[in-house]
Amino acid sequence: MSKILVTGGTGFIGSHTVVELQEAGYGVIIVDNLSNSKAETVDNIEKITGVRPEFENFDLSDRGAVLNFFLRHKGEINAVIHFAAFKAVGESVHKPLEYYRNNVNSLMNILEGMKYTGVANLVFSSSCTVYGQPDKLPVTEGTPRKPAESPYGNTKTVNEDIIRDFCHEEKQINGLALRYFNPIGAHPSSLIGESPVGIPNNLVPYITQTAAGLRKELSIFGDDYDTPDGTPIRDYIDVVDLSKAHVVAIKRLLEGKNKSNYEYFNIGTGKGLSVLELVNAFKKATGVALPYKIVGRRAGDIVKIWADTTLANTELGWKAEVPIEQTLLNAWNWEKRCRGIK
Ligand code: UFG
Repeated sequence: MSKILVTGGTGFIGSHTVVELQEAGYGVIIVDNLSNSKAETVDNIEKITGVRPEFENFDLSDRGAVLNFFLRHKGEINAVIHFAAFKAVGESVHKPLEYYRNNVNSLMNILEGMKYTGVANLVFSSSCTVYGQPDKLPVTEGTPRKPAESPYGNTKTVNEDIIRDFCHEEKQINGLALRYFNPIGAHPSSLIGESPVGIPNNLVPYITQTAAGLRKELSIFGDDYDTPDGTPIRDYIDVVDLSKAHVVAIKRLLEGKNKSNYEYFNIGTGKGLSVLELVNAFKKATGVALPYKIVGRRAGDIVKIWADTTLANTELGWKAEVPIEQTLLNAWNWEKRCRGIK
């Protein structure tokens, strides 16, 4: 059985990916310092899959701790999926050093640990944020990256470059970056999902918290954009679909099917939805009509982006499958379970 190190494995996308990996027969070691997640997620992963992943709690930006980890597990780990990172766009503007220190050092420590202990495969959690506002839609992997809008976004660009340069030199190591569009939803079991701390920044957690009565109304940030209904357009990808993309990426690397030792793929649905369309889909899926008001634009928001997923479809054999209403219903069921709503 191949064993996969999943950093950030108790987080939103990480926990769903651990479930999919275990269900596909892989062994998993999670490393997470629980800075933005809870240890009980490990229990819930076990409830879903019947298998308890190994779990170690330490900070991946601590070089000594990371090298020690890789030495202790020498010969045991076949691949790494690196999720662990700070991810709040707005916060990163105010705390650039924390973001660079955490997100960039963690990656470099992991690459060093991989090199010294012979771990050959890395899947990296990147983002469509590297494209900024593209000149042409949909975006393909050939679409040029643009200067990042925030330190957070820049850590994704910089980390992609670090992996590219490292793999260029270390031919025995394979890197594969997945550029996620907007991940949303929750596991259909309602045992794991997204748990933002404080007031959510992202649209779907804000919607589900409003529906649950925790927030008075949703503020829609601008309806005067150059889109059909004036609200911004995104490509919302179900978190379970997204997690499955990691499993096929791991399989590709372990089977040596990668075409070069650094590759990157867009992971989205290929369909753009506006904020208003998403709010309407939520009502259709759950029967809950959402109170909302239109407010001013949010600084730094791009107008529209969605993926061309041809490369992931053809090369990885992966495709988004879950309909948006089901994804939103899963997100709502998770919120209800967290709040004790029947
Ligand atoms: N929005 C609202 N009201 C809210 C929250 C969001 O109208 O309360 C709107 C935003 O203006 C935007 C859309 O909903 O048009 C989606 O916003 P999110 O914050 O959910 O997602 P973003 O597209 O801004 O950001 C996401 C990820 C980032 C990543 C970025 C890449 O959260 O990590 O995509 O484009 F960098």
